[in-house]
Amino acid sequence: MPNNQHQVLNPPIRILMGPGPSNIHPRVQRAMLAPIVGHLDPYFIAIMEDTMELLRSTFQTKNNLTFPISGTGSAGMEASFCNFLEPGDVAVIGVNGLFGERMVDNAQRCGAKVIQVAAEWGQAIEPEALENALKAQRRVKLLALVHAETSTGVLQPLVEASRLAKRYEALFLVDTVTSLGGHEVAVDDWGIDICYSGTQKCLSCPPGLAPFTVNQASFDILQARTHKVKSWYLDLSLLSNYWSSSRLYHHTAPINMIYALHEALALIVEEGIEARIQRHLINGSALHAGLEAMGLTLHAQDGYRLSTLTSVRIPPGIDELRIRQRLLSEFAIEIGAGLGPLKGKIWRIGLMGHSSRAENVLFLLSSLENLLLEEGYRLEPGAGVIAAAKTLRVE
Ligand SMILES: Cc1ncc(COP(=O)(O)O)c(C=O)c1O
Repeated sequence: MPNNQHQVLNPPIRILMGPGPSNIHPRVQRAMLAPIVGHLDPYFIAIMEDTMELLRSTFQTKNNLTFPISGTGSAGMEASFCNFLEPGDVAVIGVNGLFGERMVDNAQRCGAKVIQVAAEWGQAIEPEALENALKAQRRVKLLALVHAETSTGVLQPLVEASRLAKRYEALFLVDTVTSLGGHEVAVDDWGIDICYSGTQKCLSCPPGLAPFTVNQASFDILQARTHKVKSWYLDLSLLSNYWSSSRLYHHTAPINMIYALHEALALIVEEGIEARIQRHLINGSALHAGLEAMGLTLHAQDGYRLSTLTSVRIPPGIDELRIRQRLLSEFAIEIGAGLGPLKGKIWRIGLMGHSSRAENVLFLLSSLENLLLEEGYRLEPGAGVIAAAKTLRVE
């Protein structure tokens, strides 16, 4: 007999201001509790159709093949590379953070030759550097960039890169895991061929799905593949048969997660995508102003800063882990640590989806100020909150 010594499930309520997941809206929470139906039930099929349409509006695309892949954001990344790259193909990938590095790993696992265009962690990638890499190759199959580098807080401009991809006849692949629903992502207008995201950031859903879109011209390229896609689960030709009118069984869709995504996307339509982007922008600017008024230094390149994820340098003499632990235990606020070369050097503060709220900005600034003062950092009391409040009011 088992001894019944399990924990009673009773998770604490947290203010999620790290690099993801973000807090979810109560309506999304409720949607997950709705009764389960079969994955081929006419009711569920109608929800699938609706979810695809809502995703098209969020990605700003008319792409027919727009659906959530079962799996987290990394599944979207892996699907993008393993379907479009074959052994011997050349891929040019921008690398200025952890997720660019993960893209390189994915592309190499597909047998592609990868040309990395690197920038420092915290800087954007220059179009000239991309062009030099593209023109040095005889034929490039794919150019890939991370729109919002969650490891550094950098927003990568895409329009010029897209033009370059077209000029050199490469597919243009973009990771929008930390931008979709928080920054503008205009798939059609920006000429993005393949794009994926994740549900747990600015869409404010639990983790578990990777919204994905691809245009017809790029999808047609799959038909010309000489090798079968190595991953059965992520093979887009198979998945497209399930997410189309033929509804051919592929795998059992995570029904309640799709309810959650549907509700989260409906909330975006109700708020209006422009208003939502503006909300993220205002709250992000207020956080930036508040941190700077406290004498702290923002890490990401000026002019290329995300409003959804802010990287801030840890002041000398401050124990970064202790501050994060105290924020969590004393104020129930989660923020993130630095990764890779930025480990121990920055904190990462997320303002995504339902977590992007004026009261979160002000509470984080006052809590952080309180802890920094106690830990011996000299600052002008109240300066952070006053600067943030001013930004919130003016904007
Ligand atoms: C930019 C970016 N790409 C990809 C991923 C991977 O997503 P997941 O952790 O949901 O697999 C993340 C996760 O933080 C991310 O921030």
